[in-house]
Amino acid sequence: MAAVPSVPVIAIDGPSASGKGTVASRVAGLLGFHYLDSGALYRLTALAARRAGCLLPADDIAVEDALAGRLAQIAATLDVRFDGAAIWLAGEDVSLVLRDEQTSREASRVAALAPVRAALLQRQRDFRRAPGLVTDGRDMATVVFPDAVLKIFLTASADERARRRYKQLIENGLAASMEDLLRDIHARDQRDASRALAPLVQDHRASLLDTTCLTADAAVEEVLRRYRAQATSPCE
Ligand code: DC
Repeated sequence: MAAVPSVPVIAIDGPSASGKGTVASRVAGLLGFHYLDSGALYRLTALAARRAGCLLPADDIAVEDALAGRLAQIAATLDVRFDGAAIWLAGEDVSLVLRDEQTSREASRVAALAPVRAALLQRQRDFRRAPGLVTDGRDMATVVFPDAVLKIFLTASADERARRRYKQLIENGLAASMEDLLRDIHARDQRDASRALAPLVQDHRASLLDTTCLTADAAVEEVLRRYRAQATSPCE
């Protein structure tokens, strides 16, 4: 079905491990809206690339055009299925491996490439279907859905984000070190915010939601409150 611009979008952007995925998916469930985890598309691209033997060079080496083109082709042809909380790549449930630290690092690197972002743009917009969409990422409000009816910039302190990520990994039976997680979070924040293309920035119409001292339930409630408030008095 074609994406319909009048379908309402709630765009929630923010840094790694800020809890935006948990909040966005719960808000979507409560409103009966569709949900798009846009970061998963970058993670899937990184994972599919690794599996295709298309390896990224070490951090400080620029990706050549030929490799960027190949990565964009992989992004454009991802064989992916979202099924509730599960994500399938080429018939395999990759929900867990998608969240590991290697994939997180590589996703951040492929996300800096213009051809990859271009390849994923329409794919993301196609998730906009009635009755509505809640989506989370870095450029949902600024680039992908600039006409979103509600834009939230959801964040938390780096220490709190590392703690949440640690808990999540341990609960999933994955190895984790707080020190490594904190270092990776700082490195990813820096890369996501400083890249030339679609950097992580708060859109001028987005409202800030700092969840450092909030439970997930309280953050969900606050997003719903802002959604209802804009429905009764839209700002533009
Ligand atoms: O939200 P996440 O941690 O799953 O995102 C994985 C990576 O993808 C992260 O480094 C930032 C990048 N990303 C992006 O550049 N644009 C988006 N809309 C979503 C994620």
